Amino acid sequence: MDAKPPEQVGLFEALYSTRALRRFKPDPVPDELLFQVLDAAIRAPAGSNMQIWHFLIVRDQEKRRRIGELYWQTWASYGKQYVDDPSRIDALPRQMRLVVRSTDDLARHVAEVPVHLFVCGPAQAAGTIYPAVQNVLLACRGLGLGSVLTGFHRGHEAALRELLGIPEDQVAHALLPVGWPRDRIGPVSRRPVRKAVSLDAWGAPWPFADAQPDEGWRERWV
Ligand SMILES: Cc1cc2nc3c(=O)[nH]c(=O)nc-3n(C[C@H](O)[C@H](O)[C@H](O)COP(=O)(O)O)c2cc1C
Repeated sequence: MDAKPPEQVGLFEALYSTRALRRFKPDPVPDELLFQVLDAAIRAPAGSNMQIWHFLIVRDQEKRRRIGELYWQTWASYGKQYVDDPSRIDALPRQMRLVVRSTDDLARHVAEVPVHLFVCGPAQAAGTIYPAVQNVLLACRGLGLGSVLTGFHRGHEAALRELLGIPEDQVAHALLPVGWPRDRIGPVSRRPVRKAVSLDAWGAPWPFADAQPDEGWRERWV
């Protein structure tokens, strides 16, 4: 491969810094990098190793424009309060404000993102699709690309089938816009492990986790 990744990212550095990136430069994503992303995606675990995923790449500008319309329709309904009155976004607490602002931004500009990647499979196969989706996100991180797992295309199944020829027995589980990020990559903030874990019985604390800093061990890796 000619184009070397911009940096070599360690596995744990990637885990602590692969966040939802929703603002992109217009620069194209070369096939070589997209192939690397998908060649990593198909390494994911799959139920009975059936590998029933299908990755539908949309580069065509007119199709992306149409997908953007459908995506916007969902946001205009789901995020109606913010679309009707954008000043409500400013009034949100910081963390929420950043998420809603970038979600709104992507909904307005998704058509301009150079690659729309749909991860498809049978309707019941979400459990096998999502590990591959996570591999896409991590592989993008490793190459300096950005992406975000989105579901705003859901609810427009018929229109997408017609536009993209998706067969009746397949569903586009996730839409990942892929491009060169405008925003800072990482860090990922989360509630601490201690709030998400029990030891031996539901709700019983795990003392080891209780003794760790709430920000976790990110500093060891990033
Ligand atoms: C199942 C699922 C559906 C999601 N759908 C959307 C979506 O439609 N639009 C969007 O902008 N982000 C979507 N996200 C991204 C989440 O908002 C994001 O992962 C979360 O806020 C954490 O962001 P961070 O990694 O930047 O902290 C989705 C994530 C998941 C797991």
